[in-house]
Amino acid sequence: MRLQSGDLPKSVKIVEVGPRDGLQNEKTMVATDIKVELINRLAACGLPVIEATAFVSPKWVPQMADATDVMARITRKPGVTYPVLAPNIHGLESAIAAGATEIAVFGAASESFSQKNINCSITESLDRFRPVITAAHTRNIAVRGYVSCVLGCPYEGEIAPAKVADIAKALFDMGCYEISLGDTIGTGTPGTAQAMIDAVTRHVPVRHLAAHFHDTYGQALANLLAALQMGVAIIDSSVAGLGGCPYAKGASGNVATEDVIYMLNGLGIETGVDLSGLVETGIWISTQLGRHPGSKAGLALLAQS
Ligand code: HMG
Ligand code: MG
Repeated sequence: MRLQSGDLPKSVKIVEVGPRDGLQNEKTMVATDIKVELINRLAACGLPVIEATAFVSPKWVPQMADATDVMARITRKPGVTYPVLAPNIHGLESAIAAGATEIAVFGAASESFSQKNINCSITESLDRFRPVITAAHTRNIAVRGYVSCVLGCPYEGEIAPAKVADIAKALFDMGCYEISLGDTIGTGTPGTAQAMIDAVTRHVPVRHLAAHFHDTYGQALANLLAALQMGVAIIDSSVAGLGGCPYAKGASGNVATEDVIYMLNGLGIETGVDLSGLVETGIWISTQLGRHPGSKAGLALLAQS
């Protein structure tokens, strides 16, 4: 069947999560200067949203211990937002002190993952997020909500779409303006992705949904296309496909931003992102980290240049 461009969104908002999701799992501490330069380079590429860091416990995720410094040192480009993770009131207060204007709370559709990632049950996490969201709103800070394990859990296997829909609805009803659906371990396929989105859109309008797909099984682009066909127009991705989750062993990074932009450009979908600048940034950060660049489009475009 030929893809009908009328069935797809005309523009997509890219949420670049490389500086947070991409770096949080790096074993060697990445210098704050490198993090800051990465964020500034990504902003120069036209990315409208760059998740900059995480105000989480440094005992749990040591790589994010310099969150305050990162926020102090980035050059904030007008029109770009720099959200940060904040799992509790402690995180929110630190984020506010660092000048964050947007935060994200992060829950899960799997009990086991919730325990491993944030040390509490799903119900406890929602009880914890409620006052965080209320306090953020009183300070005019927008709150995004993540749901992890929407297409599978490293500890529990399959996750029912109805469970994902319940958590997404709970976060949306609490005031999260956008719900990011995380395929944390990348086990989803286009059919399961569409079934999950179908369940969630019964409770949360599709314009408030973001697809956050890790690429462990090489399915992320196919799953994104399936999500676009369902009307999802917000995509989380990570430059050079950096990353993984400290609490999902073996999970690889998010889908590479370069690959997403290449696909969207081919489909005639607007993002406002400069692909060649992004390719350069992907090569630069991979070199800094001593990693093989994880974007196929990035490497192919580099070979041609
Ligand atoms: P806890 O141990 O239950 O927390 O951890 P606690 O309240 O009992 O506090 C314990 C210690 O942590 C105390 O320090 C607190 O002060 C400190 P101590 O007295 O022992 O010296 N603490 C903090 N420090 C800094 N910032 C804070 C903070 N909160 C407490 N905000 C907690 C609970 C949630 C804090 C912990 O489990 C945690 O930080 N987890 C974060 C895990 C994480 O960052 N995971 C990766 C991000 S999620 C992800 O990658 C998935 C996503 O990409 C979507 C997808 O792909 O699915 C979003
Ligand atoms: Mg993630």
